[in-house]
Amino acid sequence: MNILGIETSCDETSAAVLSGDVVLSNVVSSQAVHLQFGGVVPELASRAHIRKIVPIVDEALQNAKTTLSQIDGIAVTYGPGLVGALLVGVNYAKGLAMVLKKPFVGVNHIEGHIYSNFIENKNWSPPFLCLVVSGGHTLIVLVQDHLQYRIIGKTRDDAVGEAFDKVAKLLDLPYPGGPQIDQLANEGDPSFVKFPRALMKEKTFDFSYSGLKTAVMNYLKEIPEQEIRKNLSNICASFQQAAVEVLVRKTIEAARTFQINKIGVCGGVAANSLLRKWMTDEAAEYHLTVNFPALKYCTDNAAMIARAGLERLNQGYQASLNLNAYPSLQLEI
Ligand code: KG4
Ligand code: ZN
Repeated sequence: MNILGIETSCDETSAAVLSGDVVLSNVVSSQAVHLQFGGVVPELASRAHIRKIVPIVDEALQNAKTTLSQIDGIAVTYGPGLVGALLVGVNYAKGLAMVLKKPFVGVNHIEGHIYSNFIENKNWSPPFLCLVVSGGHTLIVLVQDHLQYRIIGKTRDDAVGEAFDKVAKLLDLPYPGGPQIDQLANEGDPSFVKFPRALMKEKTFDFSYSGLKTAVMNYLKEIPEQEIRKNLSNICASFQQAAVEVLVRKTIEAARTFQINKIGVCGGVAANSLLRKWMTDEAAEYHLTVNFPALKYCTDNAAMIARAGLERLNQGYQASLNLNAYPSLQLEI
């Protein structure tokens, strides 16, 4: 079964072709138009998706040495995300499904991230605990079985990736800030400033990242500009330490509480080098298995959408041509 996956929920136009669970191609085009604004401009994102969707799908088909007539099913992200951006992918997928007379299915973007765990690790199976960390989401999900989720904890305000991006902006680093902070933090001292770790003492698996962002902002207001420049890597390392420590401690605690011995970590922030190392080390202490998808499957991509779509199509799910885009779509429970 050849599946074409399409992802347009934010600022990446992406298309992928899977043959069964094997990735034949995965093309991701990141929109450079937002760089000058220091964040994603929704209207510009929609327009860029419209320009890109046809050439990106063509490229994915070519790289996979496939043609549209060899596609057996289509999977498309229908939420959550920017409504105008989502609509481009959803309508394009509908058009293709109608013309090709092939089944198509809507995939929740978060479910796509969860399924990135299965792309390369063919031995991966539920139940497992999934930490989903991206620019828009921070949640711990108990994946009880395929397509069966229970949300254990989620952010009460900002997502962790959003905190990385906002702190980077305060430090005049280019968007997206996560990779920049990660790189600078490598040479910094994580104990330089003691930033707060939110909701660590409370008995909850929820997160909160707006306080950490505000703490960094207040700290920067007190320091002369040249001191900030001189200690840039120390400040980045201190912020990253606070942000990542909460993710690691809460996820491990959740795994122990729910007696689950496998942890999958996914979403853009799963590319973070400290998170990868710390989670791996801490999990080993408690004899837990951790899976991190390859970096290219952590940030937004259509291969993960196709992989989740494969599971849905196999289980008999199909969307009708009435499928809409849902900017605040929740993970089905
Ligand atoms: O999953 P993703 O591509 O898009 C969303 O669904 O939001 O995640 C993008 C987020 C951005 O906030 C970006 O700064 C963050 O992932 N990110 C990182 C790293 N690479 C990407 N954050 C921390 N460290 C990284 N290495
Ligand atoms: Zn994402």
